[in-house]
Amino acid sequence: MPDALPSPVQLNVPTHLVFVRPVRKMLEGLLYAQGWEEDDVDDAGLMITEIVQNAVEHGSKGDGTEEVSVVIDARATAVVITVVDPGSGVDPQKALDRDILTPVPLEEPRGRGLFLINRLAGCFERSISTSGGLCLKARKEIGS
Ligand SMILES: Nc1ncnc2c1ncn2[C@@H]1O[C@H](COP(=O)(O)OP(=O)(O)OP(=O)(O)O)[C@@H](O)[C@H]1O
Ligand SMILES: [Mg+2]
Repeated sequence: MPDALPSPVQLNVPTHLVFVRPVRKMLEGLLYAQGWEEDDVDDAGLMITEIVQNAVEHGSKGDGTEEVSVVIDARATAVVITVVDPGSGVDPQKALDRDILTPVPLEEPRGRGLFLINRLAGCFERSISTSGGLCLKARKEIGS
């Protein structure tokens, strides 16, 4: 990556699902620029997809009128993704109370996002931000 580019990169993403893919693409570009291999990039891409999708679907009104803060600190050996949503959807405490260690039964169509993120992340932290939304911080290292 050119020295002039700051890391971390901060994005203010409108709260609409149409923006989930461009955010993933941005992450992928930053990681490839750091020399990451495809498998690691794919895992990090899945993580940011689930996090931002949740932020829009559960952490906001989902109508594009609010913003989700996404910070991507992409380095040669690890990436840290920090996402804060507006907290105007369901109570963010729900995400803190959620069991993220037990696999969801096969017959359940949904509910695997946080479980997946936790499985892929080397470190995964959940908290309520000072503005009242959910703050998720996930770190992934290459080769793991
Ligand atoms: N950003 C958020 N704000 C508030 N609640 C959240 C947030 N993210 C997750 N949750 C809560 O945690 C639950 C589990 O999230 P998870 O991503 O595991 O599953 P899901 O989004 O319901 O389904 P899937 O991700 O499989 O499509 C959500 O249903 C919601 O109640
Ligand atoms: Mg989800």
